[in-house]
Parts: sequence; structure tokens; C-alpha cells
Amino acid sequence: MTRKIWSRLSHGHDRERNAARAWAAEHAENLDAWGNAVDPVLWREGGEFARALADRVRPRMEALAAMGVDLGGGGGVELLYLLTRIVRPALALETGVAAGWSTAAMLAAMRANGTGRLMSSDFPFFRLANPERYIGYVVPNDLRSRWSLRTKGDRRNLEEFLSPDTMVDLVHYDSDKTRAGREFFLRRVRPHLTGRHVMVMDDIQDNLVFREHAERQSLFRVFAYEGKYIGVTGSGLRAVERR
Ligand SMILES: C[S@@+](CC[C@H](N)C(=O)[O-])C[C@H]1O[C@@H](n2cnc3c(N)ncnc32)[C@H](O)[C@@H]1O
Repeated sequence: MTRKIWSRLSHGHDRERNAARAWAAEHAENLDAWGNAVDPVLWREGGEFARALADRVRPRMEALAAMGVDLGGGGGVELLYLLTRIVRPALALETGVAAGWSTAAMLAAMRANGTGRLMSSDFPFFRLANPERYIGYVVPNDLRSRWSLRTKGDRRNLEEFLSPDTMVDLVHYDSDKTRAGREFFLRRVRPHLTGRHVMVMDDIQDNLVFREHAERQSLFRVFAYEGKYIGVTGSGLRAVERR
């Protein structure tokens, strides 16, 4: 009986995952072409930042890898850099930090903007001793003054970050990829989105939550990225594209 229920549930998940991947593939655009069309100068600036950061941390990452520590790669660094440069958020929110590639991109773009603060939510995930010390490992020290990090998991962190009058212009969701995690986040963050916000969601091929959300919006974008898909929505997206 338990096996039957389990098998039904996992088939349901497989079906949803397959449908989500097919939908994402059908809507996917080329990220590089989009970034260049939106702003070739800032797109190039983001690419240069991503390469410089990777070069800078490579020796330390290789040393960790030799000790069997793999902190994982980041998602959509150039996209987040570009969006942060264009939206110029006063306040941005991200979930899912891990090594901190996306965090570093948003903070570097804020420094170039000369304005902005970033709130990041994570929990210690690395299966290592003192996992907290690796959260945001690649974020350069000189970018950290604009950054607030909480590591108690999204539910508790968002309670702390999102007081009733907190409003965010840019959101990056890259933490709990389950349906329940994404739905909770969308519900929790909705009252805190400004009328010019942009939202980026990673790994949208995992389930249909992004599709359901995106199809209620007037504009959305899907980008293929390293075998996965990134979704972008938000009332500020049209203005980003109209520059
Ligand atoms: C894919 S990684 C993030 C990668 C990161 N954005 C980057 O570009 O380097 C996902 C992270 O989300 C965290 N995470 C997963 N579920 C979470 C939850 N419920 N609350 C907070 N963080 C969570 C994991 O611990 C992990 O650090």
C-alpha cells in the first residue's frame, strides 16, 4: 500500500517535471542574444566581472577540491549582474547563497551603481564541518558592506527580512526548488514587491510553479542555462527591455 502511494506520488512528480522541462524548452530564448540586445555594454561588463571572479577564486576552489570539498557553481551570474545594473535596486532579496556566485554578481553591480543593499537567505547545506563558513565563500570582502546574510532557512529568514514596510525591487530565487518552497516564497514576497520589480527564478524545469506564475504576468522570459532553465518576470521587466 505504502509502495503504491509512493509510486503514484513519484510518477506525479515525474510527470510534472517532464511537463515543466518541455514548457521551459518551448519558451527558452538565448540568454546571450537577449543580454546583448538589452544593453551590450552592461552585458559585456557582467561577463568580464564573471570571468574575473572565477579567475580570482580558482586557486582557492582548486585547493578545496583537492580536500574533497566541492562548493558548486553559480547560476545566471551575468544575468543577475545586468539586471542589478539596470534596475538599480534600492533593496534586493535572494534565496540560496551557497558559494555565493549570484550574491557576488549582485553586490558587484550595486557597487558599480553606487547604491543598493542585498538581503540573502540560506541555510548551511554543505556536508562539511562548520558549513556556515563556506556560505558566500566567493564573495569578495570588499563587496560585503552592502550585504545582510541570514542562515536559518527561508521561512525564518524571510520573517526577519520582510517587515511590513520592506519593499524590494529585485528578487532572485535559488533555494528550495520544491513546489511547496516556491509557492510559499511567491506568496510571502508578493506584498513586498515594488511596481518596478524584476524576479529571477532558477531551475524552473523542476516543477510547474514558474509556469503557473508566469502565465498570470503580462511578460516573462525563459533562458536556457547550462542544461537548466532560468525564468524572469516582474512589472519592471518591460522597462528593462525598453532601454
Ligand atoms: C543552488 S544553491 C545556490 C547557488 C547560488 N545562488 C550561487 O549562485 O552560487 C542552493 C542553496 O539554497 C539553499 N537552500 C535550500 N533550501 C533552502 C531553504 N529552505 N532555505 C534557505 N536556503 C535553502 C541550499 O543550502 C544552497 O545553499
